Amino acid sequence: MATEAPSKTTRSRTTKASADKDNNASRSSSTGSSGGTATTAGASGATAARSGGKPASTGSAGKRAPFSGTTGALIGAAAAGVAVGLVANLGRKAAVQAPTALAGNWDEALKAEHAATIKLFDALETTTEKNTTKRSMLLMQLKHALAKHALQEENAVYPALREAGQVGDADQLNGEHGYVKQYLYDLENMPKESPAFLAKLREFRAHIETHVREEEDDIFPKLKAKLSPEKNKALTALMNKEGFKLA
Ligand SMILES: [Fe+2]
Ligand SMILES: [Fe+2]
Repeated sequence: MATEAPSKTTRSRTTKASADKDNNASRSSSTGSSGGTATTAGASGATAARSGGKPASTGSAGKRAPFSGTTGALIGAAAAGVAVGLVANLGRKAAVQAPTALAGNWDEALKAEHAATIKLFDALETTTEKNTTKRSMLLMQLKHALAKHALQEENAVYPALREAGQVGDADQLNGEHGYVKQYLYDLENMPKESPAFLAKLREFRAHIETHVREEEDDIFPKLKAKLSPEKNKALTALMNKEGFKLA
């Protein structure tokens, strides 16, 4: 009896089964799992293809090839670069915070920062409408100095004021800091060649000077007198820690 040729349906099923097998092998090669002869062969083939024909894996198909020497060296160099960058950044921050930290107690340190801020106002006031770049650069410096100063006061000194019962003083100073940010915003958004620039700057300086007089002549001395030497020392440390964050 003659053997019948496989029907169209049977051929179709056979072709589908074969395709499924190929797909399984392909999926296995991408996941690296083992699951029979065909799967292992597929995984080995893919690994060999990735490594340019040489089997990179030392054992079963489930193990991935370790980083090549070049990749490992590059990762090592990048990690070393990040570490060097972090150390350099810590050194830079320490240098920025040093004048404040070396100035002494928290109140003396803040006084030194007030004086440095007034010098930046002096420099800005010598500029003309032609010095637009210089104005932008000095304004950037002023903004950074005031942001660091505000963080030190708002995160360390003003809470200590409230703790010592000077709630009204702390709230008043904090409100004045809000207008410091407003002046910075106004100046930043003003054309640097504007004839109104210096007038706004002088208004800002007057606001800062009033605020500084309140802190240095009245509010801070009262707080310092209330705190024990240990508490003053702790406040100095906390203030420097806050300053370091933005240094
Ligand atoms: Fe202040
Ligand atoms: Fe201040």
